[in-house]
Amino acid sequence: MTVSEPPLLTVEGLTTTVSVQGRQAHALDDVSFQVRKGECVAIVGESGSGKSMTALAIMGLLPEPQVRATAGSIRFDGTDLLTLNQEQMRAFRGDRISMIFQEPMTSLNPVFTIGHQISEPLIYHKGLGRKAARKKAAQLLAQVQVADAEHRLSLYPHQFSGGMRQRAMIATGLACDPELMIADEPTTALDVTIQAQILEILRDLARGRGMGLILITHSLGVVARYADTVIVMYAGRVVESGPVAEVFGRPKHPYTRGLMACVPTMDGDLESALVPIDGQPSGVFDRPSGCAFHPRCPLAFDRCWAETPPLEEFRPGHHKACWADE
Ligand SMILES: Nc1ncnc2c1ncn2[C@@H]1O[C@H](COP(=O)(O)OP(=O)(O)OP(=O)(O)O)[C@@H](O)[C@H]1O
Ligand SMILES: [Mg+2]
Repeated sequence: MTVSEPPLLTVEGLTTTVSVQGRQAHALDDVSFQVRKGECVAIVGESGSGKSMTALAIMGLLPEPQVRATAGSIRFDGTDLLTLNQEQMRAFRGDRISMIFQEPMTSLNPVFTIGHQISEPLIYHKGLGRKAARKKAAQLLAQVQVADAEHRLSLYPHQFSGGMRQRAMIATGLACDPELMIADEPTTALDVTIQAQILEILRDLARGRGMGLILITHSLGVVARYADTVIVMYAGRVVESGPVAEVFGRPKHPYTRGLMACVPTMDGDLESALVPIDGQPSGVFDRPSGCAFHPRCPLAFDRCWAETPPLEEFRPGHHKACWADE
């Protein structure tokens, strides 16, 4: 990762609007961050904070027309992805940008063999013949440490264990040597040892290939161990971001501090880490005014419910969106 190089991905002011029964609200609001080559950027935040929606927006997979990107830009290697039509976006997706999902069974097709599914992007995007694609598929499966890869190409997803399916999905995502990989809680369903193995594979691939990696996770332990940069989201906004050591060393936003203080172990779960406020609905239509965190914030004062704090760089690379000085 070289700081002087232009970022691989620059998300700026990304705002998405959800429309339900004539009502509209911002699910993501003014989200900004960057990803550099070889960098692992972790996005954390409790359920409903907008992590997956950020990923789907980058992938051009927002469930339109209910959810649409209505402001901002997502620049990837000079192109604003938000200006592309579906067909143009398909040329990026699975080729230069790929995503692995939380539940492999939702993205692996049960009726096709693993080999077929890893080969598909190679045939579609790279124009490889079946045989060459299959050979590459075996290499990819071996690379994500599936033993006896050649033989296992002929198996169907249900014949794989959970951990192997997850690896097969990573292999599919890596097939075309993407420049950017988004992993949305790729290991939550797996046991801790397999989780660590898979995250190590992803991080090593990022460093080894100079691939940008966005890792969405609930675990601060995962962030501390694998990420270079962390983005903390709350109610559709980035409330703090910066280098992991800096943010963990001097967390600035009261939400981030709350997360850190409440984490009992390095594998602490963010959802159990912060106790929700009684009777406070957290849907996009019920977000509190001003800074959405104000009802839960120990430092809140009058400005906090009147005005939304912008994300500001208060130390080099370290950003916070908070009115409080301390
Ligand atoms: N299709 C949709 N229609 C309406 N609202 C939606 C839709 N998809 C997501 N939302 C809302 O947008 C907000 C952000 O959702 P998102 O899925 O990004 O959360 P998340 O941070 O990924 O949460 P989790 O940790 O549970 O996966 C939530 O309040 C959610 O209810
Ligand atoms: Mg999600």
